[in-house]
Amino acid sequence: MSAEAATGLTVSMKRVCHSYGSKENPKQVLHDIDFDLMPGEVAILTGPSGSGKTTLLTLIGALRSVQEGEAVVLGRRLRELTRAQLVRLRREIGFIFQAHNLFESLTARENVNMAIELTNCDVHERDRRCEAILTRLGLSDRIGYKPNSLSGGERQRVAIARALANRPKLVLADEPTAALDKLSGREVVDILKTLALEEQSSVLIVTHDTRILDLADRIIKLVDGRIVSDTSVKRALLIATSLQRCPIFAQQPIAMLTEFAAFMRRESFDPGEDIIREGEAGDKFYVIESGSVEVLREKTSGDSEVARTTLGPGDFFGEVALLTGAPRNATVIARDRVEAFTLAKEHFHEALQRSKTLEERLRTALYYRS
Ligand SMILES: Nc1ncnc2c1ncn2[C@@H]1O[C@H](COP(=O)(O)OP(=O)(O)OP(=O)(O)O)[C@@H](O)[C@H]1O
Ligand SMILES: [Mg+2]
Repeated sequence: MSAEAATGLTVSMKRVCHSYGSKENPKQVLHDIDFDLMPGEVAILTGPSGSGKTTLLTLIGALRSVQEGEAVVLGRRLRELTRAQLVRLRREIGFIFQAHNLFESLTARENVNMAIELTNCDVHERDRRCEAILTRLGLSDRIGYKPNSLSGGERQRVAIARALANRPKLVLADEPTAALDKLSGREVVDILKTLALEEQSSVLIVTHDTRILDLADRIIKLVDGRIVSDTSVKRALLIATSLQRCPIFAQQPIAMLTEFAAFMRRESFDPGEDIIREGEAGDKFYVIESGSVEVLREKTSGDSEVARTTLGPGDFFGEVALLTGAPRNATVIARDRVEAFTLAKEHFHEALQRSKTLEERLRTALYYRS
Protein backbone atom coordinates (compact mmCIF):
# COMPACT_ATOMS: atom_id res chain seq x y z
CA MET A 1 0.00 0.00 0.00
CA SER A 2 1.34 3.45 -0.84
CA ALA A 3 1.98 6.06 1.83
CA GLU A 4 -1.04 8.09 0.70
CA ALA A 5 -3.30 5.08 0.69
CA ALA A 6 -2.31 4.41 4.28
CA THR A 7 -3.44 7.88 5.40
CA GLY A 8 -7.07 6.79 5.10
CA LEU A 9 -8.05 9.80 2.99
CA THR A 10 -10.68 9.17 0.32
CA VAL A 11 -9.09 11.70 -2.01
CA SER A 12 -5.62 13.18 -1.83
CA MET A 13 -4.37 15.53 -4.53
CA LYS A 14 -1.02 17.24 -4.50
CA ARG A 15 0.08 19.96 -6.92
CA VAL A 16 -2.33 18.76 -9.58
CA CYS A 17 -2.33 20.85 -12.76
CA HIS A 18 -4.42 20.38 -15.86
CA SER A 19 -4.37 21.87 -19.35
CA TYR A 20 -6.64 21.53 -22.35
CA GLY A 21 -5.63 22.14 -25.94
CA SER A 22 -2.62 20.97 -27.90
CA LYS A 23 0.93 20.50 -26.60
CA GLU A 24 2.02 23.51 -28.64
CA ASN A 25 -0.82 25.66 -27.43
CA PRO A 26 -1.95 24.47 -24.01
CA LYS A 27 -4.54 26.30 -21.95
CA GLN A 28 -3.98 25.63 -18.27
CA VAL A 29 -7.26 25.43 -16.35
CA LEU A 30 -6.11 23.94 -13.01
CA HIS A 31 -3.08 25.21 -11.12
CA ASP A 32 -1.35 23.42 -8.24
CA ILE A 33 -4.44 21.92 -6.68
CA ASP A 34 -3.82 20.55 -3.18
CA PHE A 35 -6.95 18.91 -1.94
CA ASP A 36 -7.91 16.19 0.55
CA LEU A 37 -11.24 14.62 1.35
CA MET A 38 -11.78 12.56 4.49
CA PRO A 39 -14.21 9.67 4.97
CA GLY A 40 -17.59 10.96 6.13
CA GLU A 41 -16.94 14.46 4.87
CA VAL A 42 -19.43 16.43 2.76
CA ALA A 43 -17.64 19.17 0.84
CA ILE A 44 -19.05 21.78 -1.49
CA LEU A 45 -17.03 23.07 -4.42
CA THR A 46 -18.07 26.48 -5.69
CA GLY A 47 -16.65 29.09 -8.01
CA PRO A 48 -17.50 31.06 -11.13
CA SER A 49 -18.40 29.41 -14.41
CA GLY A 50 -15.26 28.21 -16.16
CA SER A 51 -13.17 28.12 -12.97
CA GLY A 52 -12.41 24.40 -13.40
CA LYS A 53 -14.91 22.69 -11.08
CA THR A 54 -16.07 20.03 -13.52
CA THR A 55 -12.51 19.45 -14.68
CA LEU A 56 -11.42 18.81 -11.09
CA LEU A 57 -14.38 16.50 -10.48
CA THR A 58 -13.66 14.45 -13.59
CA LEU A 59 -9.99 14.15 -12.61
CA ILE A 60 -10.94 12.84 -9.17
CA GLY A 61 -13.44 10.49 -10.79
CA ALA A 62 -10.70 9.06 -13.05
CA LEU A 63 -12.68 10.15 -16.10
CA ARG A 64 -9.71 12.22 -17.27
CA SER A 65 -5.99 11.40 -17.03
CA VAL A 66 -3.85 13.16 -14.50
CA GLN A 67 -1.19 15.12 -16.40
CA GLU A 68 0.79 16.63 -13.55
CA GLY A 69 0.86 16.12 -9.80
CA GLU A 70 -0.27 13.27 -7.55
CA ALA A 71 -3.85 12.07 -7.24
CA VAL A 72 -4.80 9.21 -4.92
CA VAL A 73 -8.46 8.18 -4.92
CA LEU A 74 -9.90 5.41 -2.72
CA GLY A 75 -6.37 4.30 -1.95
CA ARG A 76 -5.20 4.08 -5.53
CA ARG A 77 -2.65 6.28 -7.25
CA LEU A 78 -4.43 7.25 -10.46
CA ARG A 79 -1.37 7.59 -12.67
CA GLU A 80 -0.33 4.02 -11.98
CA LEU A 81 -3.63 2.35 -12.87
CA THR A 82 -4.22 0.26 -15.98
CA ARG A 83 -7.30 0.81 -18.09
CA ALA A 84 -9.08 -2.14 -16.42
CA GLN A 85 -8.20 -0.86 -12.95
CA LEU A 86 -9.56 2.58 -13.85
CA VAL A 87 -12.85 1.02 -14.95
CA ARG A 88 -13.07 -0.85 -11.65
CA LEU A 89 -12.34 2.30 -9.68
CA ARG A 90 -15.02 4.28 -11.55
CA ARG A 91 -17.57 1.60 -10.62
CA GLU A 92 -16.86 2.27 -6.97
CA ILE A 93 -17.65 5.97 -7.33
CA GLY A 94 -21.18 7.39 -7.35
CA PHE A 95 -21.36 9.97 -10.15
CA ILE A 96 -24.16 12.50 -10.33
CA PHE A 97 -23.39 14.63 -13.36
CA GLN A 98 -25.24 17.36 -15.21
CA ALA A 99 -25.95 15.14 -18.19
CA HIS A 100 -27.52 12.20 -16.41
CA ASN A 101 -27.21 9.61 -19.18
CA LEU A 102 -30.21 7.51 -18.20
CA PHE A 103 -31.12 4.68 -20.54
CA GLU A 104 -34.22 5.92 -22.35
CA SER A 105 -35.51 2.42 -23.04
CA LEU A 106 -35.38 1.36 -19.39
CA THR A 107 -37.73 2.26 -16.56
CA ALA A 108 -36.59 4.13 -13.47
CA ARG A 109 -36.32 0.83 -11.61
CA GLU A 110 -34.31 -0.79 -14.40
CA ASN A 111 -31.98 2.18 -14.66
CA VAL A 112 -31.18 1.92 -10.96
CA ASN A 113 -31.06 -1.88 -11.11
CA MET A 114 -28.34 -1.71 -13.78
CA ALA A 115 -26.05 0.00 -11.33
CA ILE A 116 -26.40 -2.47 -8.49
CA GLU A 117 -23.56 -4.92 -8.45
CA LEU A 118 -24.43 -8.44 -9.46
CA THR A 119 -22.34 -9.87 -6.69
CA ASN A 120 -23.65 -10.46 -3.17
CA CYS A 121 -27.16 -9.58 -4.13
CA ASP A 122 -30.05 -11.71 -5.45
CA VAL A 123 -32.77 -10.41 -7.75
CA HIS A 124 -35.26 -9.78 -4.94
CA GLU A 125 -32.70 -8.00 -2.82
CA ARG A 126 -31.78 -5.78 -5.79
CA ASP A 127 -35.43 -4.95 -6.40
CA ARG A 128 -35.94 -4.14 -2.77
CA ARG A 129 -32.92 -1.82 -2.73
CA CYS A 130 -34.08 -0.11 -5.94
CA GLU A 131 -37.51 0.53 -4.54
CA ALA A 132 -36.16 1.74 -1.23
CA ILE A 133 -33.84 4.31 -2.76
CA LEU A 134 -36.35 5.50 -5.39
CA THR A 135 -38.97 5.87 -2.66
CA ARG A 136 -36.54 7.78 -0.52
CA LEU A 137 -36.07 10.18 -3.41
CA GLY A 138 -39.83 10.70 -3.68
CA LEU A 139 -40.29 8.56 -6.78
CA SER A 140 -42.35 5.66 -5.39
CA ASP A 141 -45.12 6.28 -7.92
CA ARG A 142 -42.68 6.68 -10.83
CA ILE A 143 -40.77 3.41 -10.44
CA GLY A 144 -42.15 1.91 -13.67
CA TYR A 145 -41.79 5.07 -15.79
CA LYS A 146 -39.24 5.57 -18.56
CA PRO A 147 -37.13 8.76 -18.58
CA ASN A 148 -39.10 10.42 -21.39
CA SER A 149 -42.23 10.33 -19.21
CA LEU A 150 -40.45 11.96 -16.29
CA SER A 151 -39.85 15.63 -15.54
CA GLY A 152 -36.31 17.06 -15.47
CA GLY A 153 -36.23 16.97 -11.69
CA GLU A 154 -37.53 13.39 -11.59
CA ARG A 155 -34.89 12.22 -14.08
CA GLN A 156 -32.27 13.88 -11.97
CA ARG A 157 -33.52 12.01 -8.93
CA VAL A 158 -33.40 8.70 -10.80
CA ALA A 159 -29.80 9.51 -11.70
CA ILE A 160 -29.10 10.21 -8.05
CA ALA A 161 -30.76 6.95 -6.97
CA ARG A 162 -28.58 5.12 -9.48
CA ALA A 163 -25.43 6.80 -8.20
CA LEU A 164 -26.22 5.91 -4.58
CA ALA A 165 -27.62 2.41 -5.09
CA ASN A 166 -24.27 0.77 -4.34
CA ARG A 167 -23.62 2.90 -1.28
CA PRO A 168 -20.38 4.22 -2.79
CA LYS A 169 -17.52 5.40 -0.59
CA LEU A 170 -17.08 8.43 -2.82
CA VAL A 171 -19.84 10.48 -4.43
CA LEU A 172 -19.01 13.15 -7.00
CA ALA A 173 -21.95 15.39 -7.84
CA ASP A 174 -21.99 18.22 -10.38
CA GLU A 175 -24.90 20.59 -9.69
CA PRO A 176 -27.15 17.79 -8.36
CA THR A 177 -29.84 20.18 -7.21
CA ALA A 178 -29.90 22.39 -10.32
CA ALA A 179 -33.16 21.02 -11.76
CA LEU A 180 -34.84 20.60 -8.37
CA ASP A 181 -37.03 22.92 -6.36
CA LYS A 182 -35.88 24.09 -2.97
CA LEU A 183 -37.45 21.25 -1.00
CA SER A 184 -36.28 18.35 -3.13
CA GLY A 185 -32.86 19.98 -3.52
CA ARG A 186 -32.44 19.95 0.23
CA GLU A 187 -33.82 16.44 0.44
CA VAL A 188 -31.17 15.24 -2.02
CA VAL A 189 -28.37 16.82 -0.03
CA ASP A 190 -29.88 15.39 3.16
CA ILE A 191 -29.70 11.93 1.61
CA LEU A 192 -26.08 12.52 0.60
CA LYS A 193 -25.30 13.68 4.10
CA THR A 194 -26.96 10.62 5.65
CA LEU A 195 -24.95 8.39 3.33
CA ALA A 196 -21.80 10.18 4.47
CA LEU A 197 -22.70 9.65 8.11
CA GLU A 198 -23.92 6.06 7.87
CA GLU A 199 -21.30 4.70 5.49
CA GLN A 200 -18.47 7.14 6.15
CA SER A 201 -18.66 8.03 2.46
CA SER A 202 -17.06 11.20 1.17
CA VAL A 203 -19.27 13.50 -0.86
CA LEU A 204 -18.03 16.29 -3.12
CA ILE A 205 -20.77 18.51 -4.54
CA VAL A 206 -20.33 21.26 -7.13
CA THR A 207 -23.05 23.80 -6.53
CA HIS A 208 -24.00 27.45 -6.63
CA ASP A 209 -26.95 26.73 -4.39
CA THR A 210 -26.38 28.78 -1.24
CA ARG A 211 -29.45 27.19 0.38
CA ILE A 212 -27.57 23.98 1.03
CA LEU A 213 -24.28 25.42 2.28
CA ASP A 214 -25.15 24.70 5.91
CA LEU A 215 -25.38 20.98 5.19
CA ALA A 216 -21.74 20.79 4.14
CA ASP A 217 -18.73 20.32 6.39
CA ARG A 218 -16.46 22.25 4.09
CA ILE A 219 -16.72 24.82 1.32
CA ILE A 220 -13.95 24.99 -1.25
CA LYS A 221 -13.80 27.85 -3.67
CA LEU A 222 -12.09 27.70 -7.06
CA VAL A 223 -11.27 30.84 -9.03
CA ASP A 224 -9.38 30.68 -12.32
CA GLY A 225 -8.30 27.13 -11.64
CA ARG A 226 -6.91 27.79 -8.16
CA ILE A 227 -8.30 26.96 -4.74
CA VAL A 228 -8.71 30.39 -3.17
CA SER A 229 -10.35 29.20 0.02
CA ASP A 230 -11.10 25.98 1.83
CA THR A 231 -13.21 26.60 4.89
CA SER A 232 -14.73 24.44 7.55
CA VAL A 233 -18.43 25.33 7.68
CA LYS A 234 -18.58 24.96 11.44
CA ARG A 235 -15.81 27.50 11.74
CA ALA A 236 -17.41 29.76 9.11
CA LEU A 237 -20.74 29.71 10.95
CA LEU A 238 -18.99 30.39 14.23
CA ILE A 239 -17.26 33.41 12.70
CA ALA A 240 -20.43 34.56 10.92
CA THR A 241 -22.51 34.44 14.10
CA SER A 242 -19.76 36.32 15.97
CA LEU A 243 -19.64 38.91 13.19
CA GLN A 244 -23.39 39.40 13.49
CA ARG A 245 -22.84 40.65 17.03
CA CYS A 246 -20.81 43.47 15.52
CA PRO A 247 -23.13 46.35 14.49
CA ILE A 248 -21.32 46.84 11.19
CA PHE A 249 -22.04 43.28 10.08
CA ALA A 250 -25.38 42.77 11.80
CA GLN A 251 -27.45 43.40 8.69
CA GLN A 252 -25.36 41.32 6.30
CA PRO A 253 -26.92 38.07 5.10
CA ILE A 254 -25.39 34.97 6.68
CA ALA A 255 -24.26 33.67 3.25
CA MET A 256 -22.21 36.84 2.76
CA LEU A 257 -20.73 36.53 6.23
CA THR A 258 -19.69 32.95 5.68
CA GLU A 259 -17.89 34.22 2.57
CA PHE A 260 -16.00 36.76 4.67
CA ALA A 261 -15.38 34.02 7.18
CA ALA A 262 -13.49 32.07 4.55
CA PHE A 263 -10.87 34.82 4.56
CA MET A 264 -10.80 35.49 8.29
CA ARG A 265 -8.21 34.10 10.64
CA ARG A 266 -8.69 33.54 14.33
CA GLU A 267 -5.86 35.05 16.36
CA SER A 268 -5.13 35.13 20.07
CA PHE A 269 -3.29 37.84 21.99
CA ASP A 270 -1.80 37.67 25.48
CA PRO A 271 -2.66 40.22 28.17
CA GLY A 272 -0.56 43.36 27.64
CA GLU A 273 0.37 42.46 24.06
CA ASP A 274 0.41 45.22 21.43
CA ILE A 275 -2.03 44.30 18.72
CA ILE A 276 -1.62 47.50 16.70
CA ARG A 277 1.05 50.19 17.10
CA GLU A 278 0.43 53.80 16.23
CA GLY A 279 2.38 54.96 13.17
CA GLU A 280 2.74 51.53 11.62
CA ALA A 281 1.20 50.63 8.28
CA GLY A 282 -2.25 49.04 8.51
CA ASP A 283 -2.47 45.47 7.26
CA LYS A 284 -5.51 43.96 9.02
CA PHE A 285 -8.99 44.56 10.28
CA TYR A 286 -10.01 43.07 13.66
CA VAL A 287 -13.29 41.95 15.23
CA ILE A 288 -13.09 40.98 18.90
CA GLU A 289 -14.58 37.60 19.72
CA SER A 290 -13.72 37.54 23.42
CA GLY A 291 -11.68 39.60 25.85
CA SER A 292 -11.11 43.34 25.77
CA VAL A 293 -8.58 45.81 24.38
CA GLU A 294 -7.50 49.31 25.21
CA VAL A 295 -7.21 51.85 22.41
CA LEU A 296 -4.66 54.58 23.13
CA ARG A 297 -4.58 57.64 20.96
CA GLU A 298 -2.61 60.85 21.43
CA LYS A 299 -4.86 63.86 21.71
CA THR A 300 -4.47 66.36 18.88
CA SER A 301 -4.10 69.25 21.35
CA GLY A 302 -0.33 68.64 21.46
CA ASP A 303 0.03 68.15 25.23
CA SER A 304 1.12 64.56 25.57
CA GLU A 305 -2.30 63.47 26.84
CA VAL A 306 -3.65 60.16 25.70
CA ALA A 307 -7.29 59.26 24.97
CA ARG A 308 -8.23 55.78 26.15
CA THR A 309 -11.14 53.70 24.95
CA THR A 310 -11.98 50.14 25.90
CA LEU A 311 -13.48 47.76 23.35
CA GLY A 312 -14.97 44.31 23.97
CA PRO A 313 -16.65 41.36 22.24
CA GLY A 314 -18.42 42.33 19.00
CA ASP A 315 -16.39 45.56 18.70
CA PHE A 316 -14.02 46.07 15.79
CA PHE A 317 -10.92 48.15 15.13
CA GLY A 318 -8.19 48.67 12.58
CA GLU A 319 -10.44 49.80 9.73
CA VAL A 320 -9.28 53.45 9.63
CA ALA A 321 -5.80 52.81 8.24
CA LEU A 322 -7.24 50.34 5.73
CA LEU A 323 -9.86 52.79 4.51
CA THR A 324 -7.57 55.85 4.37
CA GLY A 325 -4.21 54.23 3.59
CA ALA A 326 -2.68 56.37 6.39
CA PRO A 327 -0.53 54.85 9.17
CA ARG A 328 -2.25 53.49 12.28
CA ASN A 329 -3.69 56.36 14.27
CA ALA A 330 -3.78 54.54 17.60
CA THR A 331 -2.14 51.81 19.62
CA VAL A 332 -4.30 48.87 20.64
CA ILE A 333 -3.26 46.68 23.58
CA ALA A 334 -4.88 43.50 24.82
CA ARG A 335 -6.15 44.03 28.40
CA ASP A 336 -6.70 40.36 29.00
CA ARG A 337 -6.56 37.32 26.75
CA VAL A 338 -8.12 38.37 23.48
CA GLU A 339 -9.48 36.18 20.71
CA ALA A 340 -10.11 38.11 17.51
CA PHE A 341 -11.05 37.44 13.93
CA THR A 342 -8.78 39.22 11.51
CA LEU A 343 -9.26 40.07 7.87
CA ALA A 344 -6.18 40.93 5.79
CA LYS A 345 -6.14 44.22 3.89
CA GLU A 346 -6.72 42.79 0.42
CA HIS A 347 -9.67 40.70 1.58
CA PHE A 348 -11.06 43.62 3.55
CA HIS A 349 -11.16 45.68 0.35
CA GLU A 350 -12.59 42.79 -1.62
CA ALA A 351 -15.33 42.42 0.99
CA LEU A 352 -16.09 46.12 0.79
CA GLN A 353 -16.30 46.06 -2.98
CA ARG A 354 -18.81 43.28 -2.82
CA SER A 355 -20.96 45.03 -0.30
CA LYS A 356 -21.77 48.66 -0.91
CA THR A 357 -23.90 48.82 2.23
CA LEU A 358 -21.04 47.50 4.34
CA GLU A 359 -18.69 50.17 3.03
CA GLU A 360 -21.24 52.89 3.80
CA ARG A 361 -21.76 51.55 7.29
CA LEU A 362 -18.01 51.43 7.93
CA ARG A 363 -17.47 54.92 6.62
CA THR A 364 -20.30 56.23 8.78
CA ALA A 365 -18.83 54.50 11.83
CA LEU A 366 -15.44 55.97 10.96
CA TYR A 367 -16.98 59.42 10.65
CA TYR A 368 -18.54 59.24 14.09
CA ARG A 369 -15.47 57.72 15.66
CA SER A 370 -12.97 60.41 14.58
N1 LIG B 1 -12.93 19.47 -23.16
C1 LIG B 1 -12.45 20.71 -23.07
N2 LIG B 1 -11.58 21.19 -23.98
C2 LIG B 1 -11.07 22.41 -23.92
N3 LIG B 1 -11.37 23.30 -22.93
C3 LIG B 1 -12.22 22.89 -21.99
C4 LIG B 1 -12.81 21.58 -22.00
N4 LIG B 1 -13.62 21.45 -20.94
C5 LIG B 1 -13.54 22.63 -20.29
N5 LIG B 1 -12.72 23.48 -20.90
C6 LIG B 1 -12.34 24.85 -20.45
O1 LIG B 1 -11.73 24.71 -19.17
C7 LIG B 1 -12.17 25.72 -18.28
C8 LIG B 1 -12.77 25.07 -17.05
O2 LIG B 1 -13.95 24.38 -17.42
P1 LIG B 1 -14.88 23.60 -16.41
O3 LIG B 1 -15.93 22.92 -17.20
O4 LIG B 1 -14.01 22.76 -15.55
O5 LIG B 1 -15.47 24.81 -15.56
P2 LIG B 1 -16.65 24.83 -14.47
O6 LIG B 1 -16.07 25.50 -13.27
O7 LIG B 1 -17.18 23.46 -14.29
O8 LIG B 1 -17.73 25.77 -15.14
P3 LIG B 1 -19.36 25.73 -15.03
O9 LIG B 1 -19.72 26.33 -13.70
O10 LIG B 1 -19.77 26.63 -16.15
O11 LIG B 1 -19.81 24.32 -15.20
C9 LIG B 1 -13.12 26.60 -19.07
O12 LIG B 1 -12.41 27.71 -19.53
C10 LIG B 1 -13.56 25.70 -20.21
O13 LIG B 1 -13.85 26.50 -21.34
MG1 LIG C 1 -19.07 22.58 -14.65
